[in-house]
Amino acid sequence: MAAARKFPGADAFLPQRRTLPSLREAAETCRGCELYIHATKTVFGEGTSQARVVFVGEQPGDQEDRAGRPFVGPAGGIFDRALAEVGISRSDSYVTNAVKHFSFEPRGKARLHKRPRPGEVRACAPWLKAELAAVRPDVLVLLGATAAQSIFGPRFLVSRERGKPLASPLAPLVIATIHPSAVLRSPDEASRQEAFASLVEDLKIVATHLRTNAAVE
Ligand code: URA
Ligand code: SF4
Repeated sequence: MAAARKFPGADAFLPQRRTLPSLREAAETCRGCELYIHATKTVFGEGTSQARVVFVGEQPGDQEDRAGRPFVGPAGGIFDRALAEVGISRSDSYVTNAVKHFSFEPRGKARLHKRPRPGEVRACAPWLKAELAAVRPDVLVLLGATAAQSIFGPRFLVSRERGKPLASPLAPLVIATIHPSAVLRSPDEASRQEAFASLVEDLKIVATHLRTNAAVE
């Protein structure tokens, strides 16, 4: 009980007026779960409310935590390459994470990525929901298990559902795929190429949807 009161979840920090700028500002002082304690800063989503596609990652990494911006480190490099390959511009996208503070394990001077706990993902979900309500995208892309489970619950399996349109009121097209860092974690060059190609395949569905539905804008 005491722990629940100490870390009440993000809901307690959401502002009345929920525009992207007011949400971003409020998130800077979020203490909804314990992750804010050791992280450098909140890494809120980046992009405009006009974005037609929202990409959701897991959580900031070491570089994102320092820069205060999502997907600017090694996983961001893979993400950018995959977007370029399918012709989606990052500046037309809103890019965010399921969890807004960096969760890590100190190892000497390094800070090793630590998967956020389900309770932390749940605690942070109100920010993501508010971002989605503010942007109301045509396409929502969930990059990896944490993002997908934040929306669809802990039993959701990316391996089974990836690349398929998912039913959700959050956007006309909702799709899950692997996280760009899965490409980096692949054990050898051949499997890295295969993982990257599979990410690109899934993103082609997104690019096609955006092109096909461009006329309604
Ligand atoms: N991985 C993520 O999920 N998000 C980032 O912003 C960076 C790495
Ligand atoms: Fe708030 Fe999310 Fe940071 Fe936890 S991770 S303190 S819920 S912004």
